Amino acid sequence: MAELRQSRRRLTVTLTAGIAALAGLGRFLRPRPAPQREIISAPLADIPADSALVFREERVAIVRNESGYYALSLVCTHLGCTVSVGASGLFCPCHGSIFDKNGGVVRGPATRPLPRLTVAVRGDRLVVSG
Ligand code: FES
Repeated sequence: MAELRQSRRRLTVTLTAGIAALAGLGRFLRPRPAPQREIISAPLADIPADSALVFREERVAIVRNESGYYALSLVCTHLGCTVSVGASGLFCPCHGSIFDKNGGVVRGPATRPLPRLTVAVRGDRLVVSG
């Protein structure tokens, strides 16, 4: 009887150690989010009110409205062309997708909104990262 109890205890300890090891291993197997890198930084004074400051080469638009600042990726979510920013909105010249000023899809073929990038005010500059 004592031998059976000892065997059960050993099995319990072994199972507990195995579960703990798997849980620890799982921590390393989960994909980690890619670290954000700084894409651009612009003087706050250069960002026009109720308009957008476009960085064509970096394919980023910084928008300033009554609530503050946000940045949109100008990489079209359809097939990756660069979206143009005009007075009437955001337009992809490749296949004609149209996005609103918040990046939402107005007309396809794109089905996903333009991604928002992370912005942070550092001193007198706005830093965009993603
Ligand atoms: S790549 Fe923009 S609509 Fe196709």
